[in-house]
Amino acid sequence: MTALIRAQDLSVSHAGTDLPVLRHVDFRIAPAEIVTVVGPNGSGKSTLVRALLGHLALDSGRVERAPGLRIGYVPQRVNIERAMPMTVRRFLSLPHRVSDADAKAVLDRTGVPGLQARQITQLSGGQLQRVLLARALLNDPQLLVLDEPTQGLDQPGIVAFYKLIEEVRAETGAAVLMVSHDLLVVMRASDRVMCLNGHVCCEGTPQAVSAAPAYRAMFGAESQGTLALYQHHHDHDHDHVAEGHVHGPDCAHTH
Ligand SMILES: Nc1ncnc2c1ncn2[C@@H]1O[C@H](COP(=O)(O)OP(=O)(O)OP(=O)(O)O)[C@@H](O)[C@H]1O
Ligand SMILES: [Mg+2]
Repeated sequence: MTALIRAQDLSVSHAGTDLPVLRHVDFRIAPAEIVTVVGPNGSGKSTLVRALLGHLALDSGRVERAPGLRIGYVPQRVNIERAMPMTVRRFLSLPHRVSDADAKAVLDRTGVPGLQARQITQLSGGQLQRVLLARALLNDPQLLVLDEPTQGLDQPGIVAFYKLIEEVRAETGAAVLMVSHDLLVVMRASDRVMCLNGHVCCEGTPQAVSAAPAYRAMFGAESQGTLALYQHHHDHDHDHVAEGHVHGPDCAHTH
């Protein structure tokens, strides 16, 4: 199979939820592709990520991962034990030992050189995100999975982070699956954007999306665009979403 991960007709429930959190979701990511999942809070983005990684039981559907796929994963919430002192250097060596040279190189790469001796708990939000990315890069991943990697970053930090991701992709050929709320930067930095709200609401290349009638309403101006995207009513069903096709030019409207 050419895709790194391919999911078909994925439905997932959590204990205690009546309706499945994900309903009939198809997904694929190819080598060196940058795919970003956007959608409102609680729309199932992290659930999708965890299902694709094999961390959750499926109600139905299937997920295929390329055999031996090397994945670098940064979850949305990282539990760092506040009470336990740990340096950045030691953090990078968990769970797999890395050499000093590799630790130095990867911190240089992610723009936080020389932080080895610092306590993890004392890093700023932006530094921590970069250190988390550094650790995810250490096993030479073919796929980086980053769930809201820019949380806590300021605007220049967000732009710099996406630039770094593009550089990593160009240098290593790694594919990137990201969850993000940074809609405008996402549109520039992604090969494909998927809007999720329990089901796939709309999906396509940024170019294809920008050619769609709803583009201006969704992404025309930062505040307006953000508002329009999050206001669109995802209470309709899309049975088939063709790859590269913008589904639902009326995505910003109530159906
Ligand atoms: N472990 C769990 N047990 C029960 N319900 C869960 C669990 N994890 C998530 N949910 C529920 O599933 C729904 C989707 O959650 P999910 O974390 O996938 O959303 P999300 O799109 O990542 O949201 P956010 O943008 O806030 O990160 C939510 O209603 C959430 O409360
Ligand atoms: Mg989430």
